[in-house]
Amino acid sequence: MGNHHLVFILCLILTCISFADVECVNEWIRNQIQPSTSNKQFPKNFSFGVATAAYQIEGAWNEDSKAPSIWDIYTHTHPERIADHSNGDNAAESYHRFEQDLVALKELKVNFYRFSISWCRVLPYADTSVKNQKAIDYYNMVIDKLLENHIEPMVTMFHYDTPEELSKFGGFTNDIVIKYFRSYADFLFETFGDRVKKWITFNEPFDYCVPGYGNANYPPMIHAPGVADYLCMDNTLRAHASAYRLYRAKYFHSQRGKVGITISSRFYYTPKANEPNDVVDRAIQYSLGWLAHPIFGKSGNYPYTVIEDITSNSMKEGLAWSRLRPLNLYWSKIIKGSGDFLGLNYYTSRYVQMSDPPAGATPSWEHDSRLKYSVDESWKRAKSDWLYCVPQGLEDILKWIRDNYDNVEVYITENGWSDEGELMDTGRIDYLKTHLRAVLNAINDGCNVTHYSHWSLIDNFEWNKGFTEKFGLYYLNMTSENKERVAKNSAHYYRSVIESREISSGDNYV
Ligand code: GAL
Repeated sequence: MGNHHLVFILCLILTCISFADVECVNEWIRNQIQPSTSNKQFPKNFSFGVATAAYQIEGAWNEDSKAPSIWDIYTHTHPERIADHSNGDNAAESYHRFEQDLVALKELKVNFYRFSISWCRVLPYADTSVKNQKAIDYYNMVIDKLLENHIEPMVTMFHYDTPEELSKFGGFTNDIVIKYFRSYADFLFETFGDRVKKWITFNEPFDYCVPGYGNANYPPMIHAPGVADYLCMDNTLRAHASAYRLYRAKYFHSQRGKVGITISSRFYYTPKANEPNDVVDRAIQYSLGWLAHPIFGKSGNYPYTVIEDITSNSMKEGLAWSRLRPLNLYWSKIIKGSGDFLGLNYYTSRYVQMSDPPAGATPSWEHDSRLKYSVDESWKRAKSDWLYCVPQGLEDILKWIRDNYDNVEVYITENGWSDEGELMDTGRIDYLKTHLRAVLNAINDGCNVTHYSHWSLIDNFEWNKGFTEKFGLYYLNMTSENKERVAKNSAHYYRSVIESREISSGDNYV
């Protein structure tokens, strides 16, 4: 680049700034990155990983002084709610078999491993009155072995498994959970933060709040739609931001890590091209935006339409207050900007239309959002009845984030495909290939995506579906004594992508 070029660029940036139009600078930077659309390789600093979660793989549910989580209690008291009446008592036994997981991770040559810490394993009373040394030793071992093998640990602090102790007094509907979580986070940063530099506070708030406290589909099986699920989301948001602020004030200086939150979202399309597009935006605000907007948006509050709808519906229902607790200035300031990255779990997309009259009971998320969803017949379906292969949706949601949240750094923390567990898993290879291509397209289009993590390393306990839907790159031999992890074809394929940093056709692996 010649000197006159540099001078021109500087002038352009200064002009933009002088007009106080930061978006203009962003737009310009994006355009500069765009011409590389033909770039076939992932950038040098792009990281590939795989993900798991404690309850889904660890087993050892009551060993070494671990206290139960709500998933232990639920699966034991309601086996009929799990497709194969199974539970996570043993699962992949990763608590005893991390060495086997490590072999798989090394084979894959991943750059990072996203796993979660079981809150009630390390702090059996959920508070810091008892710190369980054996559990601390276990996670220290995991972290140290990963680092010895040049695999970066990315730690989720909470992945659905609320300590039963907290559930005794309302779990996520009681705002005391904010204090509990903050002190749990403090303990984690203090104990592991010298080595863990990437922290995810919560995994998918919407997906444990609505089924857990709205429609009673998950533990703790509270049926209070439009009220308790909203409290859960709200307390989660405040707990996240409190932990983030704590890290910045107390640990960042010495530990220099990043703290974010993982939110799941689909992308949405209108069934007919001529339908108004604002319904797409509305659907995103009611999923990703609900928690992402307060953190990464400009207002430091819930999305405007969400506030409006729920306040006006609450009034119509004769309530004296809105079912969506308002964020005052104090909380807005804490929440706004409380994320160094946005963790995104993307699996699938939907068509969306306004639903008139609104579906769902009054009150409920369905009723407040007034949306109805459908799928395209041409979309290929996985074993899971909700999971259709729509890679374009991943590219489009990444662009939506780029345009709406100031191109915040995004980690794709989950993306994956379910089947029967076959080793010749062509469906998964196809899904992986097309979604990685979507990520690369988004990067070439200026999206700030830096990590991709596939769900999952091994077949595991898939919540209400038990072991009937398999997401692993590695098959888990459940019936053998050693619970071997066996590489599926998709594992070989993923490794080839990681090694070459290019998306090959995958033909060699089918
Ligand atoms: C996610 C969840 C994971 C896993 C995956 C596949 O929503 O975070 O734990 O179960 O879905 O359904």
